[in-house]
Amino acid sequence: RPTVVRTRDELRNVLAPARRAGRTIGLVPTMGALHDGHLSLLRAARQRCDVVVMSLFVNPMQFGPQEDFASYPRDEERDVALAGQVGVDVVYAPDAAHVYPPDFATFVEVGGGLTDVLCGDPGRRGPSHFRGVTTVVAKLFNAVEPDVAFFGQKDAQQAIVIQRMVRDLEFNIEIVVLPTVREPDGLAMSSRNAYLSPDDRVRARALNQALTKVLEVAKAGETSTERALAEARAVLAEAGIEPEYLEARDAENLTPVTRFGPRPVLVAVAARVGRARLIDNVVVDAT
Ligand code: PAJ
Repeated sequence: RPTVVRTRDELRNVLAPARRAGRTIGLVPTMGALHDGHLSLLRAARQRCDVVVMSLFVNPMQFGPQEDFASYPRDEERDVALAGQVGVDVVYAPDAAHVYPPDFATFVEVGGGLTDVLCGDPGRRGPSHFRGVTTVVAKLFNAVEPDVAFFGQKDAQQAIVIQRMVRDLEFNIEIVVLPTVREPDGLAMSSRNAYLSPDDRVRARALNQALTKVLEVAKAGETSTERALAEARAVLAEAGIEPEYLEARDAENLTPVTRFGPRPVLVAVAARVGRARLIDNVVVDAT
């Protein structure tokens, strides 16, 4: 069973011997409700690092006022048990009051057009979502001081934003981004899939099917992102899904792209399906 710690000082104490011995520390930040996507990150950390820390914190700062913070699935017992099964050494599960004392007043904000597009568009979750993510991840990086931190491609924009933060603020941490883990029918695993009714669960397959269509037409020689996206939109429409966004952007700097070319193109989708807001993406790499 992993050691569960609640405060930064406890965390430092349990990690001190390993750090003194020069052992490598891996961090996997999570909000819990673990599924195979999270477990793939934890297994990679187990393989790569001497000590594996999983953080378990549903971060209020990254939820909008209309979002699902209160109802987000929480089951610490189950998450700690699963973490133990894949060899996690330490679970850092602080209280919100420890992470954000009443006079908390410092934020980490990535700009550069990375946080005000796609999910960060002001009409959607908005840039304050990513401000919440980068602020808490910066705090976790400082609390754990890992050598390596692991993130999922499922949240492609989040991974891009965190990589930019690490570069710009000179965090001495290697960021590893691992592929999206999917259900057998292609649906990207997500803690929010629990919100889907049986009927919505079937409709939700259309997100991955639409993105797969983009990969197919690009592979067959289509160079116009607009035309490829139109085909994807038709797949969504057939399932009665009107996406919040479906866009093609440069996979590194998130600027819009009109052609599949030499640089990798991120094709990302977000859509509400019943009670769940779902996201997914693929990267079209023509080379
Ligand atoms: P959470 O949604 O719990 O996800 C934790 C990590 O698991 C993220 O890096 C996410 O990209 C990855 N992940 C989720 N679903 C995945 C899937 N199907 N395949 C592969 N990886 C997957 O993302 C967050 O938490 C938070 O924003 C956090 C980074 C912890 C900051 O609060």
